[in-house]
Amino acid sequence: MWTNTQDKALQARAQRVMPGGMYGHESTRLLPADFPQFFQRAQGTRLWDVDGNEYIDYMCAFGPNLLGYGHEAVEAAARAQAHRGDTMTGPSDAMVRLAELFVDTVSHADWAMFCKNGTDATAMALVCARAHRQRRKVLLAQGAYHGAAPWCMPQAAGSTPEDRAHIIPFRYNDLDSLAAAVELADNDLAGIFATPFRHEAFSDQYLPGADYARAVRRVCDERDALLVVDDVRAGFRMARDCSWSATPTTSNASWTRVSCCVMGCMRKLPATVSRCVRPAPCRCPRSFSRTTPICALGMHGPRLPYAAGFICIHTTTCSSMRRSRPRT
Ligand SMILES: Cc1ncc(COP(=O)(O)O)c(C=O)c1O
Repeated sequence: MWTNTQDKALQARAQRVMPGGMYGHESTRLLPADFPQFFQRAQGTRLWDVDGNEYIDYMCAFGPNLLGYGHEAVEAAARAQAHRGDTMTGPSDAMVRLAELFVDTVSHADWAMFCKNGTDATAMALVCARAHRQRRKVLLAQGAYHGAAPWCMPQAAGSTPEDRAHIIPFRYNDLDSLAAAVELADNDLAGIFATPFRHEAFSDQYLPGADYARAVRRVCDERDALLVVDDVRAGFRMARDCSWSATPTTSNASWTRVSCCVMGCMRKLPATVSRCVRPAPCRCPRSFSRTTPICALGMHGPRLPYAAGFICIHTTTCSSMRRSRPRT
């Protein structure tokens, strides 16, 4: 007989010791009453809640789980790295190897930076945008989620007007709204955060129109501002490069001028497997067929709490941060 008594008991205990019983997007508060809050184990595509009920995990752990739970090659790589050293005083060689792999893989990337989560990655992109030309204004699409930091979190509680003083909202996929926001930023426009596709919770998802995507690219070029594509949710799913490079929205030629592509969902890195396990027609770049498993999980610890993020920076348009190594 189906039951959720263990889950309900845990929820009651959690209420006493954790804000709201669970906080952030993993809270099931807005979901149907019987939706499980706590899970016991997972394998492949399946999840079991604390009452032993089995589910197919269409959520893929909110995205990071590209290869399924307990994937043998991924687990072996994580174990091997943990055995070498976990949370060491400094980074391991894996960090350099992984940065090389990303720079080789993402065609517009000159640099890769690693962060412990997506919020850190988007915050770093914000800093890059402002540092680039010493400007302040940043455009964010209304409703688009970029993390839980005062400058971008969806709810206002806990942030001040000063935190968002230089954030200008605009309506996603709306050329007039974009133009008005750009005018408002005037000559202080640091960057525009673009969301690869509309993916807010509780609303329909859709790709941006081609005119809109081209306009964002054009405005950034004209104003010498950074186009930041927050690929934390979509990275490596819609395209190996930036998500917009896979859609008819922007030509590859213009895309190579991207300034900052924020990616995430790296808890279990696809690069940890020695070959691509995706079904055809997967077009893996050669770098993904390397035989040596690469594992970056030892940078901070083999079990990051949630999706780690990384950002790829195209330094040609980011001259203030240009490095000496020529692009190949
Ligand atoms: C598009 C997008 N950007 C940024 C974030 C923040 O990532 P994290 O929760 O790892 O801080 C998320 C998280 O869901 C996201 O969906």
